[in-house]
Amino acid sequence: MQAVSSTLSGNIRVIVIDNPPVNATSQAVRAGLMQAVEQAAGDDDTHAIVIACAGATFVAGADIKEFGKPPLDPHLSEVIHAIESSAKPVVAAIHGSALGGGLELALGCHYRVVDGKARLGLPESTLGIIPGAGGIPRLLRLAGVDKALDMAAGGKPIGAAEALEAGVADALTQEDVRAAALAFAQRLLAEGGAARRTRELPAPGCESQVFEAARAKFQASHRGQLAPQACVDVAERSVASGFEDSVAYGRERFRELVTSPQAQALRHAFFAERVATKPAGLSADEVVPIRKAGVVGAGTMGTGIAMCFLNAGIPVVLVEQNETVLASSVETVGKTYRNDVAKGRIAEAMQRTRCDALTPTLRYESLHDCDIVVEAVFEDMGVKQQVLASIEENLRPDALIATNTSFLDIDALAAGLRRPENVVGMHFFSPAHIMKLLENVRGARSSPRALATIQALGKRLGKVAVMVGVSDGFVGNRMLARRTRECYFMLEEGALPEQVDRVLCEFGFPMGQFQLNDLAGLDVAWRNRQSRLDRLSEREVACNILDEIVAAGRHGQKTGAGFYTYDAQRKRSVDPAISELIVRNAERRGIARRAISDEEILERCLYAMINEGALILEEGVASRPEDIDTIWLNGYGFPRFRGGPMFHADRIGAARICERIRHYASQAGEQYWTPAPLLLAQARDGGAFYAR
Ligand code: CAA
Repeated sequence: MQAVSSTLSGNIRVIVIDNPPVNATSQAVRAGLMQAVEQAAGDDDTHAIVIACAGATFVAGADIKEFGKPPLDPHLSEVIHAIESSAKPVVAAIHGSALGGGLELALGCHYRVVDGKARLGLPESTLGIIPGAGGIPRLLRLAGVDKALDMAAGGKPIGAAEALEAGVADALTQEDVRAAALAFAQRLLAEGGAARRTRELPAPGCESQVFEAARAKFQASHRGQLAPQACVDVAERSVASGFEDSVAYGRERFRELVTSPQAQALRHAFFAERVATKPAGLSADEVVPIRKAGVVGAGTMGTGIAMCFLNAGIPVVLVEQNETVLASSVETVGKTYRNDVAKGRIAEAMQRTRCDALTPTLRYESLHDCDIVVEAVFEDMGVKQQVLASIEENLRPDALIATNTSFLDIDALAAGLRRPENVVGMHFFSPAHIMKLLENVRGARSSPRALATIQALGKRLGKVAVMVGVSDGFVGNRMLARRTRECYFMLEEGALPEQVDRVLCEFGFPMGQFQLNDLAGLDVAWRNRQSRLDRLSEREVACNILDEIVAAGRHGQKTGAGFYTYDAQRKRSVDPAISELIVRNAERRGIARRAISDEEILERCLYAMINEGALILEEGVASRPEDIDTIWLNGYGFPRFRGGPMFHADRIGAARICERIRHYASQAGEQYWTPAPLLLAQARDGGAFYAR
């Protein structure tokens, strides 16, 4: 198969890129394009050129697998330069995604015809790099500095209609895009239209304050990241000096960034997600269609889960025993969709379709024709077992049952049922209709059919679905529990919430441990603690700072006070009353507080998680380190530019982590700090979670 082929259609040469899966601009494509364009230039029968792609998408970017390897000629910018230099008009036919180098290629064409569902973007900064082939200088000449910066530094793609409005596209079609591009080229020739080179357009005038403001904006939204700032630098250079100079400058910055630790981590995150969402051993042939879903429990989680299905076009039967709770859930769904309409996210017709697809009911019998039912009731073994039995009683024998438990043993939950092979876990994260992560849980008796189906369903719901095994807290919450424990211990030993949170935020988490607790509700954390007291160590039971704060009526953000106080706009401030409470608590319990360094805070938070991650891998609860990294990147705000906890562990090295774990064991005891055998083996053999 040729990566690039070219045929004559009348007097128009159609160059087709065919490089599955996403038509990335790998070397064969670049060389093929160069040759096809040269051939078209020398061919008298060719009066115009259309560049199109085979398969599901236009060019979705450079081949990310080639990054970090020695560059192979020709460079993409040379190919684009050759296309743009063509004396014959060149029209890009864009369907699917035109991303990164793909959009840069399209911007080098003289005109762009886009399919109505196409997406155009410069997501390079999400990979720690910048568009290196003239994307920013060209885009700002077409669409202005603000749009170019939002797309490049912000990494935000735009849809076809927005591209047309912004001047990035010249025509939009709902029909076959290649045919539309051919018709566009024919019209152009008939009207005497010529090549139109973006690089020859004047750069928009722009004050330097615009770039200063952009730097501050992207510093705030992409804290600690180098690539968005480099995008602003290139845009400023494009306005201040000529096109050629800024392209050369962009290439230089690209080369500097592509081997940076941030870019390596972000590339790892990209591929880890693709590995993690495809668990081994599941067959697509086993997937059963989900036409209708049931959700039992109409609290916050149940309501969010119902919206996940509705958003994916799957009708939902929502069962709840309490009429008032059910009514309030229906109201929340309606309000969410009305808000989406008001914000222009969905059309009014879509709002009606989604609301009509929700059947609220007090009766389990209504679940009879559902293909899957997710229970989202109170986190209690007895309650859940009863609810699952009622669901099974009212369900077709082949329908699946998923529990949304976040800690309980799925095998114990399924034990009393007649068909445990139909039972799986689907652990959604709150707010369920927004959070990307889904932990799909395989029980000991879950059938391959059930597992393959929930994995496919996760993708259909737009989630990053990772398959995990049964374990207390599965993967994410189990690791978080270790970090949480250390954070509370550090409060009694000498730290304050604002110090712990600052250290975690400086590392790159969007919020610290205690900000997170305040957001989720301290009453929730307290109830969870009470239900687990019998499983906690003596020291954990005695460490009762949370109990005291909750007893003072401080339940977190929703009550205006928790570890911090909050004003009406939920703006946070440090509360001296909390510092006093923590200090007094330590005094009362005879603990001599000491200064705890930022380094210690970070090490104890991270190494507690990494050590638990290693145990989780050894036990097979997660199959691969990519699964753990993906869970932490998508559900717990682990900074993407650090690649995830296991990738980060490799950077630190197992020997160092084991040494520090032993150090903390000497302070607190091996009960809390024992290096996982996997880490010890890595330290001994020079191994790592990922092959180097
Ligand atoms: N390079 C190499 N492989 C890629 C790739 C790329 N740019 N984009 C996707 N793939 C691979 C994936 O790894 C996956 O491979 P496996 O099937 O072996 O796992 C396969 O293509 C399909 O990808 P998805 O599972 O993601 O498919 P999807 O249909 O859900 O999404 C997509 C398609 C929207 C194009 C998505 O893959 C995507 O966003 N890709 C990345 C786009 C991107 O970031 N482009 C910019 C690259 S940087 C650049 O372009 C700079 C430059 O020129 C110098």
